[in-house]
Amino acid sequence: MTDSIRVHGGRALRGEIHVRGAKNFVSKAMVAALLGSTPSTLRNVPQIRDVEVVSSLLSLHGAPVDYDVETGVLHADTSNLTTADAFQIAQHAGSSRIPILLCGPLLHRIGEAVIPDLGGCRIGDRPIDFHLDILKKFGAQVEEGPDGLYLTAPNGLKGIKYELSYPSVGATEQLLLTAVMAEGITTLHNAAVEPEIKDLIDTLQTMGAIISVDTDRSLTIEGVKELRGFDHTALTDRIEVGSWACAALATKGDIFVRGAQQRHMGYFLNVFRKVGGEFDITSDGIRFYHPGTELKPIALQTDVHPGFMTDWQQPMVVALTQATGLSIVHETVYENRLGFTGALNQMGAQVQLFRECLGDKQCRFGQLNFQHSAVISGPTPLAAADIEVPDLRGGFSYLIAALAAEGTSTVSNIGIIDRGYENFREKLTALGAAVD
Ligand code: EPZ
Repeated sequence: MTDSIRVHGGRALRGEIHVRGAKNFVSKAMVAALLGSTPSTLRNVPQIRDVEVVSSLLSLHGAPVDYDVETGVLHADTSNLTTADAFQIAQHAGSSRIPILLCGPLLHRIGEAVIPDLGGCRIGDRPIDFHLDILKKFGAQVEEGPDGLYLTAPNGLKGIKYELSYPSVGATEQLLLTAVMAEGITTLHNAAVEPEIKDLIDTLQTMGAIISVDTDRSLTIEGVKELRGFDHTALTDRIEVGSWACAALATKGDIFVRGAQQRHMGYFLNVFRKVGGEFDITSDGIRFYHPGTELKPIALQTDVHPGFMTDWQQPMVVALTQATGLSIVHETVYENRLGFTGALNQMGAQVQLFRECLGDKQCRFGQLNFQHSAVISGPTPLAAADIEVPDLRGGFSYLIAALAAEGTSTVSNIGIIDRGYENFREKLTALGAAVD
């Protein structure tokens, strides 16, 4: 498969597509399966590269995975786990950050774990300090080796009291995946409470874990000695749903997203409505469409749940280039997630970046010299260009820009998009896009 796509833009996307399970839950549920001494079944699993990556990581550790693309049903047999070496893990993980989440489950099940040098989308520094601190507090011993970090737990893992300085999704997952089988009680304050985390908690509960969620972002976990496998259906990928919704808006289109669930899209739907987008909610999915009149500018800040997701920001910025007036976007989750707008400007957009916090939330990046606020002036017609995908969500956003632009664009490095958007080429064709 070639790593670029030609997009003959200027056509409205119209039709229906189906979005399956959330990348950012499915990968974690597969890791949770490692905690179970009996096999697990996960349903609604999309065919994306991150699923392939975690499948190979599980297989490397002696847990064979069987995935049926048509039905989306994935079985993992985690009854007998073995050790894998850092070099092999790094080779299979590629740029994924998932290996760090395997640590808690592997320490419980086989007493050792390895973290190779980690990748992930280049949207900021993306440190792993919270993860390591949590693992060490539970009692893990961490040693640096030639290919990465080697972890053991000679005295077992014991429950902790922990407070996150920022409600990190990954760190909350790390703590959950470690605490469920640690000895005694663990409490976490300032936890992330994203729907994908709620689904992970439900999955762990199915396995026999005891977890309670308080109203003030606190979690309490009572460790148990053994967990069994699960049978669970993944929640829909709300980031993919939002991305297609923005594609409908930017191309003046009309897309029915089968599988979209209103309860996970609340903030997005409010913003979509304020920009002037229309939607119809049904029990099977959500239809997103352009109103046929001018789009309106908005002021927007990304935030942790229940705020506007950072992952919706990039596709929404492309849609805002078509709104009449000045829109303001303040990115408060990642310090470097607006760099993708440079290519939009080359296509004719008018996006200006600022170091200041342009919003009432004083975020962590305010005094730190990061260009993390944007002012978008629209509407600007977009012209075709040759553009290279910088990261997963930025990449899909470039596709949206190319679809909205007059003329033929070449978008390269699109392999990254396969990490999180199932069959996006086929879906584009189904929606009437001219791509080859
Ligand atoms: C998850 O990343 C998602 N990835 C991201 O989606 C998503 O953008 C992010 O959560 C926020 O919702 C997966 O689930 C695989 P974080 P994660 O820990 O867990 C800082 C996508 O496109 N931080 O909540 O890595 C960090 O630098 C991806 O699907 C530390 O400082 O995100 C960031 O500023 C991109 N130290 C903030 O916390 C740490 O040890 C939030 O990161 C960990 C994080």
